[in-house]
Amino acid sequence: MSTASIPSGRKKVTTRIFRQKKAKGLPITMLTAYDYATAQAIDRAGLDAILVGDSLGMVVLGYETTLPVTMQDMLHHCKAVARGAHTAMLIGDMPFMSYQVSVLEAVRNAGRFLQEAGMDAVKLEGGRERREAVEAIVSAGIPVMGHLGLTPQSVHQLGGFQAQAKTTQAAERLMDDALQLQAAGCFALVLESIPARLGRWVSERLEIPTIGIGAGAGCDGQVLVTHDLLGLFDRFTPKFVRKYADLHGEMARAFSAFAADVESGEFPAVEHSVEMPDEDWENFLRRVDQNPQPTLAD
Ligand code: KIV
Repeated sequence: MSTASIPSGRKKVTTRIFRQKKAKGLPITMLTAYDYATAQAIDRAGLDAILVGDSLGMVVLGYETTLPVTMQDMLHHCKAVARGAHTAMLIGDMPFMSYQVSVLEAVRNAGRFLQEAGMDAVKLEGGRERREAVEAIVSAGIPVMGHLGLTPQSVHQLGGFQAQAKTTQAAERLMDDALQLQAAGCFALVLESIPARLGRWVSERLEIPTIGIGAGAGCDGQVLVTHDLLGLFDRFTPKFVRKYADLHGEMARAFSAFAADVESGEFPAVEHSVEMPDEDWENFLRRVDQNPQPTLAD
């Protein structure tokens, strides 16, 4: 649960609200955040959920993949997000090797996201091979969001960041994995980079909501990596991203303008400066004249 208090008139989003939205055919909205200010902006915009994704590793920490991200990295950023968000459901992404080694470790690490970092739920990648871990985490009272399709922690096994489930067999396997994760107790599933008609097919057959990223309009909700949406990450832009801003360009413009103003003496101006009463200033000058300060050379 977020450490920030809930403003009056707005309800904390829970797994129950996710289920209700699916039942009513209302789309679920989710974005990623990794810091206080962004979490605050997303929360104020009224989105249903904030995912502290391990995409942190690529878009904030500058790694080539998500694999180097640690529990410590994730907890640090989850805590910042929890301070900024009041109503959105907060979901912490379990990093590579925090849930694969043993079910015991998976439960313990999942618990840290709620107990130490103010998250409401966790997300982890993988299908049938994660069933036991999901069941154990859920039975510890921790809501779990699954993640199928392009699962970036398996980038080396998948042979790159490519669309998945494009063959008959792969689509069948994905559908079966989705049913297994649902049976294991997941409250929702992320479907990443799969054919749109498969995204719709799976969404229509599951009782739990699906949140698509590059999985078409037939999913029960949509998520994007905020740095992609804002145009803040310029190394590459996946096909499924719609850019709503060019903050990288805007930042570069603002930084050059600042440097130019400092170099020309335009900044800081009088309105950015602090004044003191004339009388105190004159007293000060008189006193330093009478008692010159020793210099370093003395
Ligand atoms: O880490 C992340 O941001 C994610 C989203 C792409 C769903 O897993």
